[in-house]
Amino acid sequence: MAKKRLALLISGNGSNLQAIINACQNEIINAEVVVVISNRKDAYGLKKAEKAAIPAIYHPYFKGSDRNLYDDSLSKLVLQYTPDFVVLAGWMRKLSMHFLRYFPMKVVNIHPALPDTFPGTHAIERAFHAYQEGEITQSGVMIHYVPDEGVDDGPILLQKIIKINPEDQLADFEDRIHETEHHLFTEVLCMLCNNSR
Ligand code: GRF
Repeated sequence: MAKKRLALLISGNGSNLQAIINACQNEIINAEVVVVISNRKDAYGLKKAEKAAIPAIYHPYFKGSDRNLYDDSLSKLVLQYTPDFVVLAGWMRKLSMHFLRYFPMKVVNIHPALPDTFPGTHAIERAFHAYQEGEITQSGVMIHYVPDEGVDDGPILLQKIIKINPEDQLADFEDRIHETEHHLFTEVLCMLCNNSR
């Protein structure tokens, strides 16, 4: 069965990117990462992509420039790689319909919290703080399609609950979230790529 083509968009460290690259290289996911694009020049994930001999592209957004034009140019860039799926693996920019219209039911995002909780940045810290305030007892990770401009919102592919323990420091909780993210991404991409669709 032909391998699916994954375009990964990142903004940071790229631990999820690395987990996906590894799972593709080990043929756990029937796919190859065909391009990695970052909106941040110093995103360490770009180095990880280069190390794996994957095209690694810095596509800058200049403050104050037109958001729709950026998304148009980003879509053109991504389309050149004819991806089956566009994977937001720590991509920290909201995508408009100027991008999303080209990839219906093809854009997949990870959010380090449960559905309808802590959308936006610093979700892990905010969840931990909410736990300390007695507002929640658990958080989690979700992976969902991105159909529109809703932030960390869309049809859910998979989610996993993660309990927070009284002895947890933020770093412990963060480590468990990231470990879960890497497994969940692999599981979701297997679901999407390892059948005959
Ligand atoms: C992850 O926690 C992801 O859920 C969030 O940004 C973080 C990216 O981490 N959207 P990494 O760059 O994959 O290490």
